[in-house]
Amino acid sequence: MVVDNRPYELVLYGASGYTGKLCAEHITMHLPTNLNWAVAGRSADKLQGVVKKLEELNRDRNPPSIEVTAHQKDDLHALVRKTRLVVTTVGPYSKMGEPMVEACASNGTHYLDCTGESPWFRQMIQRYHRLAQSTGAIIIPQCGIESVPADLLTYIVCNQIRSRFSSSTRNVTHVLYNAKASASGGTLSSILAVFETFSISYLIKSMHPFALCPTSPSSSNRNAPLHAQQSLYEKLLGVANIPGMGIMTDSPGASVDTAVVNRSWGLLSSLSPPSTSYGPNFFFKEWMRSTGLINAAIFHYAFMAAPLFLIMPPIRWLLRKFVFLSPGDGPDLDQAGRREFIEYRTIGEADPDASKKTSARLYYEGSMYAFTGILLAEAAMVLARPEEKSGQPCEARRLGGGLLTTACLGEEFVDRLKAAHGVVLEVQ
Ligand SMILES: NC(=O)c1ccc[n+]([C@@H]2O[C@H](COP(=O)([O-])OP(=O)(O)OC[C@H]3O[C@@H](n4cnc5c(N)ncnc54)[C@H](OP(=O)(O)O)[C@@H]3O)[C@@H](O)[C@H]2O)c1
Repeated sequence: MVVDNRPYELVLYGASGYTGKLCAEHITMHLPTNLNWAVAGRSADKLQGVVKKLEELNRDRNPPSIEVTAHQKDDLHALVRKTRLVVTTVGPYSKMGEPMVEACASNGTHYLDCTGESPWFRQMIQRYHRLAQSTGAIIIPQCGIESVPADLLTYIVCNQIRSRFSSSTRNVTHVLYNAKASASGGTLSSILAVFETFSISYLIKSMHPFALCPTSPSSSNRNAPLHAQQSLYEKLLGVANIPGMGIMTDSPGASVDTAVVNRSWGLLSSLSPPSTSYGPNFFFKEWMRSTGLINAAIFHYAFMAAPLFLIMPPIRWLLRKFVFLSPGDGPDLDQAGRREFIEYRTIGEADPDASKKTSARLYYEGSMYAFTGILLAEAAMVLARPEEKSGQPCEARRLGGGLLTTACLGEEFVDRLKAAHGVVLEVQ
């Protein structure tokens, strides 16, 4: 069980990195001033620099404590025993993430990260799900742009269908509707790390829609309902025409998000009443809106070809040397704050009556890394301050621990994001 008398409610590990700093800033500006928290990492100098900046940002609150730690087993175990929850932005996770998952799972410490490396998530489930269940540790990877929007919007539309129509959900279409965004050195390095760490066969298995799912899917879970299936012509071009939304192509995050959403489906199906199950015939598909048919088809084929290049070591070497930013670097924050934005739209259809629909929209204007910082910090509050808003235990607590998903943070997470600075989350 997670112990309540630990000195910290939250430790942010990797606070000196590009994303870690932004998460620390959101905590400093928007989370309760009595939150008992610390920033952690390997460099005392860098952490002192972070804390100094946080003090300047908000002089009305005490700065966080500093915990300097080596990135090795004994030190990480000692660190996680001081806190209820660790938020870690130390990546690439395929190379550096496992020791922290092991430490948290062993010591009953809750855990959040913002990886998009789903083969690594799969490996962590295989290695630590049972251990985390036995200690009560709630371990939630992919609490960033990958895969909160897909996972949480799906949770929302399915809940709406249940409460409005007393139905389960047959079909969810999630669309990356509009975006202007750029990547940090840490993200680009993490993409390469996945191809360097895992075998091609493990990568292929991890990209399966049910790669992370704890239960076996039926044929309805694997296939879209007839009215939502692509024509042969659309299949050949890799596109789809969704009424009211436009021409669609591959979404870059689709395989990673789909595996997480289907894990949520499996996990939530196992909960006894009050049920938040999506339903036995639930099917999920993610797309990205395109500007037209030709662009959609070109993007589809380019996107299909990219992994063939990334598995080649010389190509990865060239990308590191001449194209990608270094870890620690990222888009200029002032410019990103003014220029970047992202919008997702999600439609759910009831089972069996597809004319009964609900929809949800998530919009954020500003740096994508600031958005990830918000997602991590607000999710952290659901675990660090249990039932503070809703008075009800979230699904993750009812599941009792293990390698879970952001949908398991439930209505409390939804409410926190609706109220979060800069986030627009609407349900229709
Ligand atoms: N999918 C998403 O939505 C999303 C969004 C944002 C970020 N991310 C992921 O988050 C991770 C961080 O991204 P970022 O751009 O913030 O990267 P970054 O700026 O390079 O920061 C990495 C952090 O990890 C620490 N670190 C690196 N190697 C370490 C080691 N051997 N021991 C201890 N600490 C170490 C760094 O500490 P030092 O400062 O001491 O070097 C730094 O605090 C990446 O994996 C990225 O893909 C994902």
